[in-house]
Amino acid sequence: MNETLERWGSRRAFILAVTGAAVGLGNIWRFPYMTGENGGGAFLLLYIVFVLLLGLPVMMAEIMIGRAGRRSPSQSLAVLARQAGSSEHWRWLGLFGAVTVFCILSFYSVVSGWSIEYLIAAINGNFVDQGPGEVGAFFDGFLADPLRMTFNHTLFLLMTMTVVAAGVSKGLERLNNLMMPLLYLLLVVLAIYAATTDGFAPALNWLFTPDLSAISVGVVLNAMGHAFFTLAVGACALMAYGAYMPDHQSLPRAAGAVAVLDVLVALLAGIAIFSVVFAQGIDPAEGPGLMFVTLPIVFAELPWGSLWLGLFFLLLLLATWTSSINLAEPMVAGLQGLGLRRSRATALIAVSIWLVGILSVLSFSHLEAVHIVAGMNFFELVSSVPSETFLPIGGLLIAVFAAWVVPRETALRALDAGPTGFRLWQGVVRWVSIPLTALVLLSGLI
Ligand code: PFF
Repeated sequence: MNETLERWGSRRAFILAVTGAAVGLGNIWRFPYMTGENGGGAFLLLYIVFVLLLGLPVMMAEIMIGRAGRRSPSQSLAVLARQAGSSEHWRWLGLFGAVTVFCILSFYSVVSGWSIEYLIAAINGNFVDQGPGEVGAFFDGFLADPLRMTFNHTLFLLMTMTVVAAGVSKGLERLNNLMMPLLYLLLVVLAIYAATTDGFAPALNWLFTPDLSAISVGVVLNAMGHAFFTLAVGACALMAYGAYMPDHQSLPRAAGAVAVLDVLVALLAGIAIFSVVFAQGIDPAEGPGLMFVTLPIVFAELPWGSLWLGLFFLLLLLATWTSSINLAEPMVAGLQGLGLRRSRATALIAVSIWLVGILSVLSFSHLEAVHIVAGMNFFELVSSVPSETFLPIGGLLIAVFAAWVVPRETALRALDAGPTGFRLWQGVVRWVSIPLTALVLLSGLI
Protein backbone atom coordinates (compact mmCIF):
# COMPACT_ATOMS: atom_id res chain seq x y z
CA MET A 1 0.00 0.00 0.00
CA ASN A 2 2.12 2.82 -1.23
CA GLU A 3 1.14 6.40 -0.74
CA THR A 4 0.23 7.88 -4.06
CA LEU A 5 2.95 10.15 -5.37
CA GLU A 6 0.87 12.03 -7.90
CA ARG A 7 -0.17 15.61 -7.06
CA TRP A 8 -2.09 18.30 -8.89
CA GLY A 9 0.43 20.82 -10.17
CA SER A 10 -1.02 23.82 -8.34
CA ARG A 11 -3.87 25.02 -6.12
CA ARG A 12 -5.62 26.36 -9.16
CA ALA A 13 -5.28 22.99 -10.88
CA PHE A 14 -6.98 21.31 -7.94
CA ILE A 15 -9.90 23.76 -7.93
CA LEU A 16 -10.27 23.39 -11.69
CA ALA A 17 -10.23 19.61 -11.41
CA VAL A 18 -12.93 19.54 -8.76
CA THR A 19 -14.98 22.13 -10.63
CA GLY A 20 -14.60 20.01 -13.75
CA ALA A 21 -15.98 17.05 -11.82
CA ALA A 22 -18.87 19.04 -10.42
CA VAL A 23 -19.95 20.93 -13.52
CA GLY A 24 -21.50 18.64 -16.11
CA LEU A 25 -24.79 17.16 -17.26
CA GLY A 26 -26.03 17.84 -13.73
CA ASN A 27 -25.92 21.60 -14.24
CA ILE A 28 -26.80 21.97 -17.88
CA TRP A 29 -29.12 19.05 -18.67
CA ARG A 30 -30.42 17.73 -15.33
CA PHE A 31 -30.85 20.97 -13.37
CA PRO A 32 -33.16 22.67 -15.89
CA TYR A 33 -35.43 19.69 -16.41
CA MET A 34 -35.55 18.83 -12.69
CA THR A 35 -36.38 22.46 -11.91
CA GLY A 36 -39.05 22.38 -14.59
CA GLU A 37 -40.58 19.19 -13.22
CA ASN A 38 -40.35 20.17 -9.55
CA GLY A 39 -42.01 23.53 -9.36
CA GLY A 40 -39.35 26.04 -10.51
CA GLY A 41 -38.23 28.51 -7.83
CA ALA A 42 -39.18 26.22 -4.93
CA PHE A 43 -36.85 23.52 -6.24
CA LEU A 44 -34.07 26.04 -6.83
CA LEU A 45 -34.40 27.34 -3.28
CA LEU A 46 -34.26 23.85 -1.74
CA TYR A 47 -31.34 22.90 -3.97
CA ILE A 48 -29.34 25.93 -2.82
CA VAL A 49 -30.18 25.24 0.84
CA PHE A 50 -29.05 21.62 0.41
CA VAL A 51 -25.86 22.64 -1.38
CA LEU A 52 -24.99 24.90 1.58
CA LEU A 53 -26.03 22.61 4.44
CA LEU A 54 -25.22 19.18 2.98
CA GLY A 55 -23.34 19.29 -0.30
CA LEU A 56 -20.58 21.68 0.67
CA PRO A 57 -19.77 20.31 4.17
CA VAL A 58 -19.88 16.71 2.93
CA MET A 59 -17.74 17.64 -0.07
CA MET A 60 -15.11 18.91 2.37
CA ALA A 61 -15.47 15.69 4.38
CA GLU A 62 -14.98 13.56 1.30
CA ILE A 63 -11.95 15.41 -0.03
CA MET A 64 -10.49 15.57 3.48
CA ILE A 65 -10.59 11.76 3.77
CA GLY A 66 -8.82 11.37 0.44
CA ARG A 67 -6.21 13.94 1.36
CA ALA A 68 -5.57 12.39 4.76
CA GLY A 69 -5.33 8.89 3.29
CA ARG A 70 -3.49 9.70 0.04
CA ARG A 71 -4.59 6.38 -1.45
CA SER A 72 -7.52 4.96 -3.40
CA PRO A 73 -10.84 5.59 -1.59
CA SER A 74 -11.11 2.09 -0.09
CA GLN A 75 -7.52 2.10 1.08
CA SER A 76 -7.78 5.61 2.53
CA LEU A 77 -10.89 4.61 4.46
CA ALA A 78 -9.21 1.44 5.75
CA VAL A 79 -6.00 3.20 6.78
CA LEU A 80 -7.81 6.01 8.60
CA ALA A 81 -10.19 3.55 10.29
CA ARG A 82 -7.23 1.54 11.55
CA GLN A 83 -5.55 4.72 12.77
CA ALA A 84 -8.70 5.55 14.71
CA GLY A 85 -8.95 2.06 16.15
CA SER A 86 -12.20 1.53 14.28
CA SER A 87 -13.35 -1.31 12.02
CA GLU A 88 -11.62 -1.70 8.66
CA HIS A 89 -15.01 -2.61 7.24
CA TRP A 90 -15.26 1.09 6.42
CA ARG A 91 -13.35 0.14 3.28
CA TRP A 92 -16.62 -1.22 1.84
CA LEU A 93 -17.83 2.34 1.58
CA GLY A 94 -15.25 2.72 -1.18
CA LEU A 95 -16.78 -0.24 -2.98
CA PHE A 96 -20.29 1.21 -2.55
CA GLY A 97 -18.99 4.42 -4.12
CA ALA A 98 -17.50 2.44 -7.00
CA VAL A 99 -20.86 0.75 -7.64
CA THR A 100 -22.52 4.18 -7.61
CA VAL A 101 -20.10 5.78 -10.07
CA PHE A 102 -20.29 2.67 -12.25
CA CYS A 103 -24.08 3.00 -12.55
CA ILE A 104 -23.88 6.76 -13.13
CA LEU A 105 -21.11 6.60 -15.74
CA SER A 106 -22.94 3.90 -17.70
CA PHE A 107 -25.84 6.28 -18.50
CA TYR A 108 -23.77 9.48 -18.32
CA SER A 109 -21.68 8.33 -21.24
CA VAL A 110 -24.79 7.59 -23.29
CA VAL A 111 -26.39 11.00 -22.66
CA SER A 112 -23.07 12.74 -23.29
CA GLY A 113 -23.06 10.93 -26.63
CA TRP A 114 -26.30 12.78 -27.45
CA SER A 115 -24.32 16.05 -27.31
CA ILE A 116 -21.87 14.66 -29.86
CA GLU A 117 -24.79 13.96 -32.20
CA TYR A 118 -26.21 17.44 -31.68
CA LEU A 119 -22.83 19.11 -32.04
CA ILE A 120 -22.30 17.45 -35.42
CA ALA A 121 -25.88 18.10 -36.52
CA ALA A 122 -25.59 21.77 -35.54
CA ILE A 123 -22.33 22.23 -37.40
CA ASN A 124 -23.90 20.62 -40.46
CA GLY A 125 -26.73 23.12 -40.24
CA ASN A 126 -29.31 20.34 -39.77
CA PHE A 127 -31.64 22.46 -37.68
CA VAL A 128 -31.74 25.51 -39.94
CA ASP A 129 -35.35 26.64 -40.49
CA GLN A 130 -36.75 23.66 -38.63
CA GLY A 131 -39.88 23.84 -36.51
CA PRO A 132 -40.81 21.92 -33.36
CA GLY A 133 -42.14 18.94 -35.29
CA GLU A 134 -38.93 18.40 -37.25
CA VAL A 135 -36.63 18.89 -34.25
CA GLY A 136 -38.76 16.52 -32.16
CA ALA A 137 -38.62 14.00 -34.99
CA PHE A 138 -34.82 14.34 -35.15
CA PHE A 139 -34.54 13.59 -31.42
CA ASP A 140 -36.97 10.66 -31.60
CA GLY A 141 -35.27 9.30 -34.71
CA PHE A 142 -31.90 9.47 -33.01
CA LEU A 143 -33.17 7.78 -29.84
CA ALA A 144 -34.69 5.00 -31.93
CA ASP A 145 -31.36 4.32 -33.66
CA PRO A 146 -29.29 2.15 -31.29
CA LEU A 147 -26.36 1.93 -33.68
CA ARG A 148 -25.86 5.68 -33.90
CA MET A 149 -26.29 6.04 -30.17
CA THR A 150 -23.82 3.22 -29.54
CA PHE A 151 -21.29 4.87 -31.84
CA ASN A 152 -21.49 8.14 -29.87
CA HIS A 153 -21.41 6.34 -26.52
CA THR A 154 -18.27 4.51 -27.69
CA LEU A 155 -16.63 7.70 -28.90
CA PHE A 156 -17.35 9.51 -25.64
CA LEU A 157 -16.07 6.64 -23.53
CA LEU A 158 -12.88 6.54 -25.59
CA MET A 159 -12.37 10.28 -25.04
CA THR A 160 -12.84 9.80 -21.32
CA MET A 161 -10.68 6.76 -20.91
CA THR A 162 -7.80 8.18 -22.95
CA VAL A 163 -7.43 10.98 -20.41
CA VAL A 164 -7.94 8.64 -17.46
CA ALA A 165 -5.29 6.24 -18.76
CA ALA A 166 -2.77 9.07 -19.00
CA GLY A 167 -3.15 9.74 -15.25
CA VAL A 168 -4.68 12.77 -13.64
CA SER A 169 -1.64 14.98 -13.38
CA LYS A 170 -0.80 14.66 -17.07
CA GLY A 171 -4.16 14.12 -18.72
CA LEU A 172 -6.74 15.98 -16.75
CA GLU A 173 -4.72 18.94 -15.68
CA ARG A 174 -3.88 20.04 -19.19
CA LEU A 175 -7.45 19.48 -20.31
CA ASN A 176 -8.92 21.46 -17.42
CA ASN A 177 -6.55 24.39 -17.69
CA LEU A 178 -7.66 24.94 -21.23
CA MET A 179 -11.31 24.05 -21.10
CA MET A 180 -12.82 25.31 -17.87
CA PRO A 181 -12.28 29.03 -18.58
CA LEU A 182 -13.63 28.53 -22.11
CA LEU A 183 -16.70 26.91 -20.69
CA TYR A 184 -17.55 29.85 -18.41
CA LEU A 185 -17.01 32.27 -21.22
CA LEU A 186 -19.41 30.41 -23.49
CA LEU A 187 -22.07 30.24 -20.77
CA VAL A 188 -21.86 33.93 -20.02
CA VAL A 189 -22.27 34.66 -23.74
CA LEU A 190 -25.35 32.44 -23.83
CA ALA A 191 -26.88 34.11 -20.77
CA ILE A 192 -26.24 37.55 -22.24
CA TYR A 193 -28.00 36.47 -25.40
CA ALA A 194 -30.91 35.16 -23.28
CA ALA A 195 -31.26 38.59 -21.70
CA THR A 196 -32.20 39.99 -25.11
CA THR A 197 -35.14 37.61 -25.57
CA ASP A 198 -38.77 38.06 -24.48
CA GLY A 199 -38.53 35.01 -22.26
CA PHE A 200 -35.88 36.53 -19.99
CA ALA A 201 -38.22 38.27 -17.52
CA PRO A 202 -40.62 35.31 -17.12
CA ALA A 203 -37.61 32.97 -16.74
CA LEU A 204 -36.21 35.08 -13.90
CA ASN A 205 -39.62 35.19 -12.31
CA TRP A 206 -40.03 31.41 -12.61
CA LEU A 207 -36.61 30.73 -11.14
CA PHE A 208 -36.40 33.33 -8.39
CA THR A 209 -39.96 33.65 -7.07
CA PRO A 210 -40.43 30.36 -5.25
CA ASP A 211 -43.96 29.04 -4.86
CA LEU A 212 -43.61 27.30 -1.50
CA SER A 213 -46.86 25.39 -1.94
CA ALA A 214 -45.09 23.39 -4.68
CA ILE A 215 -42.87 21.73 -2.05
CA SER A 216 -43.65 18.06 -1.38
CA VAL A 217 -41.64 15.16 0.04
CA GLY A 218 -40.79 14.17 -3.54
CA VAL A 219 -39.53 17.66 -4.38
CA VAL A 220 -37.39 17.73 -1.20
CA LEU A 221 -35.90 14.31 -2.01
CA ASN A 222 -35.18 15.30 -5.60
CA ALA A 223 -33.54 18.54 -4.51
CA MET A 224 -31.32 16.72 -2.02
CA GLY A 225 -30.31 14.06 -4.54
CA HIS A 226 -29.55 16.77 -7.06
CA ALA A 227 -27.37 18.70 -4.60
CA PHE A 228 -25.20 15.60 -4.17
CA PHE A 229 -25.22 14.79 -7.89
CA THR A 230 -24.30 18.24 -9.08
CA LEU A 231 -21.42 18.59 -6.62
CA ALA A 232 -20.19 15.06 -7.41
CA VAL A 233 -20.45 14.21 -3.71
CA GLY A 234 -21.32 10.86 -2.12
CA ALA A 235 -19.60 8.35 -4.41
CA CYS A 236 -16.01 8.72 -3.17
CA ALA A 237 -15.13 10.22 -6.55
CA LEU A 238 -13.89 13.46 -5.00
CA MET A 239 -12.14 11.37 -2.36
CA ALA A 240 -10.01 10.02 -5.20
CA TYR A 241 -9.18 13.59 -6.29
CA GLY A 242 -8.47 14.62 -2.69
CA ALA A 243 -5.66 12.07 -2.66
CA TYR A 244 -3.84 14.23 -5.22
CA MET A 245 -4.51 17.54 -3.44
CA PRO A 246 -1.38 19.62 -2.82
CA ASP A 247 -0.26 20.40 0.73
CA HIS A 248 -0.89 23.88 2.10
CA GLN A 249 -4.26 24.58 0.50
CA SER A 250 -7.30 25.44 2.56
CA LEU A 251 -9.93 22.82 1.78
CA PRO A 252 -12.98 24.89 2.76
CA ARG A 253 -11.84 27.73 0.56
CA ALA A 254 -11.29 25.41 -2.43
CA ALA A 255 -14.58 23.58 -1.88
CA GLY A 256 -16.43 26.87 -1.38
CA ALA A 257 -15.10 28.20 -4.69
CA VAL A 258 -16.22 25.02 -6.45
CA ALA A 259 -19.73 25.16 -4.97
CA VAL A 260 -20.15 28.79 -5.99
CA LEU A 261 -18.97 28.08 -9.55
CA ASP A 262 -21.21 25.03 -9.75
CA VAL A 263 -24.35 26.89 -8.68
CA LEU A 264 -23.45 29.77 -11.01
CA VAL A 265 -23.18 27.46 -14.00
CA ALA A 266 -26.55 25.90 -13.18
CA LEU A 267 -28.12 29.34 -12.84
CA LEU A 268 -26.63 30.59 -16.10
CA ALA A 269 -27.76 27.44 -17.91
CA GLY A 270 -31.18 27.66 -16.28
CA ILE A 271 -31.60 31.32 -17.25
CA ALA A 272 -30.53 30.60 -20.84
CA ILE A 273 -32.80 27.56 -21.20
CA PHE A 274 -35.88 28.94 -19.43
CA SER A 275 -35.64 32.22 -21.35
CA VAL A 276 -36.10 30.28 -24.56
CA VAL A 277 -38.68 27.98 -22.98
CA PHE A 278 -40.83 30.97 -22.00
CA ALA A 279 -40.18 32.93 -25.18
CA GLN A 280 -41.52 29.95 -27.14
CA GLY A 281 -44.34 28.96 -24.78
CA ILE A 282 -42.82 25.53 -24.16
CA ASP A 283 -43.88 23.48 -21.12
CA PRO A 284 -41.11 23.75 -18.46
CA ALA A 285 -42.04 20.26 -17.19
CA GLU A 286 -41.14 18.72 -20.55
CA GLY A 287 -38.72 16.25 -18.86
CA PRO A 288 -35.25 14.95 -19.81
CA GLY A 289 -35.78 15.92 -23.44
CA LEU A 290 -36.24 19.61 -22.45
CA MET A 291 -32.84 20.77 -23.56
CA PHE A 292 -32.54 18.57 -26.63
CA VAL A 293 -35.98 19.27 -28.04
CA THR A 294 -36.27 22.97 -27.31
CA LEU A 295 -32.89 24.57 -27.88
CA PRO A 296 -32.46 23.72 -31.58
CA ILE A 297 -35.81 25.38 -32.34
CA VAL A 298 -34.84 28.58 -30.64
CA PHE A 299 -31.29 28.79 -31.90
CA ALA A 300 -32.50 28.11 -35.42
CA GLU A 301 -34.32 31.44 -35.34
CA LEU A 302 -31.21 33.40 -34.46
CA PRO A 303 -28.65 34.89 -36.78
CA TRP A 304 -25.80 32.34 -36.89
CA GLY A 305 -28.12 29.96 -35.05
CA SER A 306 -26.15 26.87 -36.01
CA LEU A 307 -23.00 28.42 -34.64
CA TRP A 308 -24.64 29.22 -31.28
CA LEU A 309 -26.13 25.78 -31.06
CA GLY A 310 -22.83 24.14 -31.95
CA LEU A 311 -21.10 26.21 -29.27
CA PHE A 312 -23.69 25.19 -26.74
CA PHE A 313 -23.19 21.48 -27.37
CA LEU A 314 -19.45 21.87 -27.48
CA LEU A 315 -19.69 23.47 -24.06
CA LEU A 316 -21.87 20.68 -22.76
CA LEU A 317 -19.50 18.08 -24.14
CA LEU A 318 -16.47 19.67 -22.47
CA ALA A 319 -18.32 19.81 -19.17
CA THR A 320 -19.46 16.19 -19.31
CA TRP A 321 -16.00 15.04 -20.39
CA THR A 322 -14.32 16.37 -17.23
CA SER A 323 -17.15 14.97 -15.07
CA SER A 324 -16.96 11.51 -16.56
CA ILE A 325 -13.21 11.45 -16.04
CA ASN A 326 -13.95 12.03 -12.36
CA LEU A 327 -16.57 9.28 -12.40
CA ALA A 328 -14.01 6.82 -13.77
CA GLU A 329 -11.13 7.80 -11.49
CA PRO A 330 -12.19 6.06 -8.23
CA MET A 331 -12.79 2.78 -10.07
CA VAL A 332 -9.43 2.95 -11.81
CA ALA A 333 -7.66 4.04 -8.62
CA GLY A 334 -9.37 1.16 -6.79
CA LEU A 335 -8.18 -1.46 -9.26
CA GLN A 336 -4.72 0.11 -9.24
CA GLY A 337 -4.77 -0.24 -5.47
CA LEU A 338 -5.37 -3.95 -5.99
CA GLY A 339 -2.17 -4.11 -8.01
CA LEU A 340 -3.44 -3.70 -11.57
CA ARG A 341 -1.51 -1.48 -14.00
CA ARG A 342 -3.28 1.81 -14.72
CA SER A 343 -3.70 1.05 -18.42
CA ARG A 344 -5.18 -2.40 -17.70
CA ALA A 345 -7.48 -1.04 -15.01
CA THR A 346 -8.72 1.67 -17.38
CA ALA A 347 -9.35 -0.83 -20.18
CA LEU A 348 -11.27 -3.17 -17.88
CA ILE A 349 -13.51 -0.38 -16.58
CA ALA A 350 -14.03 0.99 -20.09
CA VAL A 351 -15.22 -2.34 -21.49
CA SER A 352 -17.57 -3.00 -18.54
CA ILE A 353 -19.08 0.48 -18.67
CA TRP A 354 -19.47 0.19 -22.42
CA LEU A 355 -21.38 -3.07 -22.13
CA VAL A 356 -23.75 -1.86 -19.41
CA GLY A 357 -24.19 1.41 -21.29
CA ILE A 358 -25.61 -0.57 -24.20
CA LEU A 359 -28.59 -1.46 -21.97
CA SER A 360 -29.26 2.28 -21.59
CA VAL A 361 -28.92 2.74 -25.35
CA LEU A 362 -31.46 -0.01 -25.97
CA SER A 363 -33.83 1.47 -23.39
CA PHE A 364 -34.96 3.90 -26.08
CA SER A 365 -35.79 1.20 -28.61
CA HIS A 366 -35.81 -2.58 -28.10
CA LEU A 367 -35.86 -2.48 -24.29
CA GLU A 368 -38.09 0.57 -23.91
CA ALA A 369 -41.03 -1.39 -22.53
CA VAL A 370 -38.94 -3.77 -20.41
CA HIS A 371 -39.66 -2.56 -16.89
CA ILE A 372 -37.13 -3.62 -14.29
CA VAL A 373 -38.76 -2.26 -11.11
CA ALA A 374 -41.58 0.17 -10.33
CA GLY A 375 -42.45 0.60 -13.99
CA MET A 376 -38.98 1.89 -14.84
CA ASN A 377 -36.95 0.62 -17.78
CA PHE A 378 -33.18 0.22 -17.49
CA PHE A 379 -32.29 3.82 -18.38
CA GLU A 380 -34.95 5.28 -16.10
CA LEU A 381 -33.73 3.11 -13.26
CA VAL A 382 -30.01 3.72 -13.65
CA SER A 383 -30.44 7.46 -14.20
CA SER A 384 -32.53 7.99 -11.07
CA VAL A 385 -31.95 5.53 -8.21
CA PRO A 386 -28.14 5.79 -7.95
CA SER A 387 -28.28 9.61 -8.07
CA GLU A 388 -31.26 10.05 -5.76
CA THR A 389 -30.55 7.38 -3.14
CA PHE A 390 -27.03 5.91 -3.44
CA LEU A 391 -25.35 9.34 -3.42
CA PRO A 392 -27.16 10.62 -0.28
CA ILE A 393 -26.56 7.29 1.50
CA GLY A 394 -22.88 7.37 0.52
CA GLY A 395 -22.67 11.03 1.53
CA LEU A 396 -24.23 10.26 4.91
CA LEU A 397 -21.70 7.49 5.62
CA ILE A 398 -18.79 9.64 4.43
CA ALA A 399 -19.96 12.43 6.76
CA VAL A 400 -20.24 10.05 9.72
CA PHE A 401 -16.76 8.67 9.02
CA ALA A 402 -15.18 12.10 8.62
CA ALA A 403 -16.82 13.80 11.59
CA TRP A 404 -16.98 10.93 14.10
CA VAL A 405 -14.29 8.38 13.18
CA VAL A 406 -11.23 10.12 11.68
CA PRO A 407 -8.90 11.18 14.54
CA ARG A 408 -9.16 14.89 15.30
CA GLU A 409 -5.51 15.71 14.61
CA THR A 410 -5.58 13.97 11.22
CA ALA A 411 -8.80 15.67 10.17
CA LEU A 412 -7.59 19.05 11.41
CA ARG A 413 -4.44 18.79 9.32
CA ALA A 414 -6.15 17.50 6.18
CA LEU A 415 -8.85 20.19 6.31
CA ASP A 416 -6.22 22.90 6.60
CA ALA A 417 -8.62 25.55 7.89
CA GLY A 418 -7.25 26.27 11.37
CA PRO A 419 -8.84 25.17 14.66
CA THR A 420 -11.85 27.50 14.40
CA GLY A 421 -12.60 26.55 10.80
CA PHE A 422 -12.28 22.92 11.78
CA ARG A 423 -14.67 23.23 14.70
CA LEU A 424 -17.21 25.04 12.56
CA TRP A 425 -17.04 22.40 9.81
CA GLN A 426 -17.24 19.55 12.30
CA GLY A 427 -20.20 21.12 14.08
CA VAL A 428 -22.12 21.62 10.85
CA VAL A 429 -21.42 18.07 9.64
CA ARG A 430 -22.25 16.47 12.99
CA TRP A 431 -25.34 18.43 13.91
CA VAL A 432 -26.78 19.62 10.59
CA SER A 433 -25.63 17.61 7.55
CA ILE A 434 -25.87 14.13 9.10
CA PRO A 435 -29.29 14.51 10.78
CA LEU A 436 -30.76 16.39 7.83
CA THR A 437 -29.64 13.82 5.24
CA ALA A 438 -30.89 10.98 7.43
CA LEU A 439 -34.21 12.73 7.97
CA VAL A 440 -34.83 13.37 4.27
CA LEU A 441 -33.82 9.80 3.36
CA LEU A 442 -36.13 8.40 6.02
CA SER A 443 -39.04 10.57 4.95
CA GLY A 444 -38.50 9.27 1.43
CA LEU A 445 -38.69 5.70 2.70
CA ILE A 446 -41.89 6.34 4.59
N1 PFF B 1 -21.38 16.35 -10.90
C1 PFF B 1 -21.56 15.76 -12.19
C2 PFF B 1 -22.58 16.57 -12.98
O1 PFF B 1 -23.18 17.51 -12.43
O2 PFF B 1 -22.79 16.29 -14.14
C3 PFF B 1 -22.00 14.32 -12.11
C4 PFF B 1 -21.24 13.48 -11.12
C5 PFF B 1 -19.84 13.37 -11.19
C6 PFF B 1 -21.92 12.81 -10.11
C7 PFF B 1 -19.15 12.59 -10.27
C8 PFF B 1 -21.25 12.02 -9.20
C9 PFF B 1 -19.87 11.92 -9.28
F1 PFF B 1 -19.23 11.18 -8.41
